[in-house]
Amino acid sequence: MLSLVTLALSANHEDLSSQFGPAQPQRTWEESYALAKTLIGKLNSIEKIRLTTGVGFGLGKCAGNIGKIDKVDFPGMCLQDGPVGVRKTQNATVYPAGVTTAATFDRELMYMRSRAMGLEYRTKGINVALAPAIGALGRSPNAGRNWEGFGPDPYLCGIGGAESVRGLQDEGVIATAKHWVANEQERYRLVIENIIGFNSGPILYSISSNVPPRALRELYEWPFIDIIEAGAASVMCAYQRVNGTYSCESEEIIKGHLKSDKNGNLGFKGFVVTDWFAASLASKASTAGTDVVMPGDIGLMGAAAGTQAASDGALTGEKGATRLDEAALRVVAAWYKTGQDKGFPSLDLERDATTEFHAQIAQRINTDGTVLLKNTNKALPLTKKIKKIGVFGSDAGPIPKGPNSCGEFHTCRDGTLAVGWGSGGGTFEYLIDPLQAIEERAAAEGATVESVLNDFDYKKIREVAADKDVCLAFIQSRSGEGLAAVDGNVGDRNNLTAWHGGDALIATLTPICDNIVVVAHTVGPIVVEPWIEHPNVKAVLFPHLPGQESGSSLVQTLWGDVNPSGKLPYTLGKKQDDYCCKLISDWAGFAPEQDFTEGTNIDYRWFAAKGITPRFEFGFGLSYTTFAYDASTLSISTPKVLPDVGLEDVLFSVEIEIENTGDVEGKEAAQLYITYPSEAKDSGRWLRGFDKVKLAPGEKKKAIFEVRKRDVSYWKEGSGWAQVTGKDYEIQVGASERDVKAKGSVRFA
Ligand SMILES: *[C@@H]1O[C@H](CO)[C@@H](O)[C@H](O)[C@H]1NC(C)=O
Ligand SMILES: *[C@@H]1O[C@H](CO)[C@@H](O)[C@H](O)[C@H]1NC(C)=O
Ligand SMILES: *[C@@H]1O[C@H](CO)[C@@H](O)[C@H](O)[C@H]1NC(C)=O
Repeated sequence: MLSLVTLALSANHEDLSSQFGPAQPQRTWEESYALAKTLIGKLNSIEKIRLTTGVGFGLGKCAGNIGKIDKVDFPGMCLQDGPVGVRKTQNATVYPAGVTTAATFDRELMYMRSRAMGLEYRTKGINVALAPAIGALGRSPNAGRNWEGFGPDPYLCGIGGAESVRGLQDEGVIATAKHWVANEQERYRLVIENIIGFNSGPILYSISSNVPPRALRELYEWPFIDIIEAGAASVMCAYQRVNGTYSCESEEIIKGHLKSDKNGNLGFKGFVVTDWFAASLASKASTAGTDVVMPGDIGLMGAAAGTQAASDGALTGEKGATRLDEAALRVVAAWYKTGQDKGFPSLDLERDATTEFHAQIAQRINTDGTVLLKNTNKALPLTKKIKKIGVFGSDAGPIPKGPNSCGEFHTCRDGTLAVGWGSGGGTFEYLIDPLQAIEERAAAEGATVESVLNDFDYKKIREVAADKDVCLAFIQSRSGEGLAAVDGNVGDRNNLTAWHGGDALIATLTPICDNIVVVAHTVGPIVVEPWIEHPNVKAVLFPHLPGQESGSSLVQTLWGDVNPSGKLPYTLGKKQDDYCCKLISDWAGFAPEQDFTEGTNIDYRWFAAKGITPRFEFGFGLSYTTFAYDASTLSISTPKVLPDVGLEDVLFSVEIEIENTGDVEGKEAAQLYITYPSEAKDSGRWLRGFDKVKLAPGEKKKAIFEVRKRDVSYWKEGSGWAQVTGKDYEIQVGASERDVKAKGSVRFA
């Protein structure tokens, strides 16, 4: 076992990115379709069905399989979870989750995480990664799977998704962006889960997300535009219904919005795969434009789903045959596009795909994605004066029976929180817990550590805290997929407060220890009001969900080897009621529905529209150094002429000079927000650019934002993406959504 705690960890981006080999060659969609046409031309209907319906569910270790067809040398495909790394197999790295990665506001790290992950899928011979997650977007902070994606801002989520697709596919692995679309809560997502008994009342239909057109296009579908631009070869349709029709069975949503290339629709060329058991009827899904039904041929869902579809004519009638051809064509085209016809490794899930280099990437994402929310009198980084360290809370310690002891879906309740539960949960080769790493590091620093992992042993906590130079308090908040309940939370979080008595733990420390550092491992926002302003709570760190390199990364931040530069990828409100959107958890009827009445006003736009002051706004994060933005250097280039520019092309750019005014090196994630003219948008600022600059003390550098035509567009029902001419778009550049440093404006002729 590697002693990764002491691994040398100052690897910078250049050192890391230089370790990748050349990207695997990709084909264009045109070339891929031409090759796929020839292959499909040699197949009969049964063989085509074999390509479009899963086979062998539960027989191997792959989450799903597409059948092999020997006569055309098509070897079949293995599909495997999930967004934090190759699941259900050891010898794979568990990377930081999407929420931590989003907090880096760093495109290069977003890419490197998935490139390294892609290499692991490839090494094991897995063809299709069921990643990235770009929905749930995070309409409600309580939704169970928000942490798998990149936060509730569609722009940030879109960039995170696109970089992930590039990373995976540059290793020749098919990326599956999920979940299409508006999959914004866990409870009531799937009828059979209700039968198994997690939900409150019996339901006959999955929940329906009733989304107004603009919110659907500008929020929930927006990140999918980015992943399609990045070449994504597969998209997974979701469990729940959209406006009353199952996502995987909605012609409007699949054939229309996703696949059509007209009227502002997305023009997706790869294949659409159902989430597992998401199609109520394979024939309906096929007719709507879904290409692959998963998991396919098992008894439970009404015999062989493909055969069923064939027998009721949806796939074999005259129209059906065309649909089946198209579906098979898309699957094979995706395979050609990613170059899997040449030299793709054979399937072997046990093959060792880990490297020290991948662990270093995971650490770098953690250190650059950790958000410093408070740091009074430079309590952090810890100095040589700190000799006696107290560590408190079960979240600091190991998972009691080992990191993989909570089952296949990682439904853990106890021990440190490194990843959420469900199919996105990961399988650990090892998990470096905070206490282990702190003990090792403290020894090297000549300090001693005493710990109390029992959150409720207040007597012991008081005793141990009494003589400490610093008290590190670990708290957490978990969530996961709706396939399991943990501590009564059916995927979604019942509340936004710390688990395991976290607030009481801190309240026990505050009268005794005057140098408390709170570390929160959390899936998203938690309420910090009970203690955030207490003068003895000197510093607060949010590493969110750091994966296997939790402790090894944290010690680098605590002792200042690396300066934290993460920013919140969501708004941290003062209380649950500050947030716009309540989940539905006590539906009385058979067909639950959720009206997205807030439209596009989720997260920071909701807070702004309602005049609610958050505790920490979207994009907020401190550093061990300080930065100054020079407003006089703000420059906005003359925009190109609108009709000359494609929706995805750069229309104009914005620059501003930033200086490191402190005494250590640091990175600043500068952000650009645009307020549309009132003709286009009701209210609010929209994140439309970010740039992370690395600065030595005293150094000045420009942050540069390239604004695409889509970034100034809005959805106009009936005519697609539109822009406003002859009126000011307001440009704001700043350190967060509320910390505006410079303002300007731009208009289009
Ligand atoms: C979907 O439902 C929302 C909310 O009820 C409504 O505003 C919208 O027009 C509906 N869209 C369609 C296509 O029916
Ligand atoms: C990990 O990889 C090694 C080397 O390939 C192999 O011997 C071992 O069986 C693998 N372990 C697991 C649990 O897959
Ligand atoms: C919030 O949920 C957690 C986990 O179920 C629980 O431990 C905690 O007591 C709850 N908090 C409140 C205030 O009910």
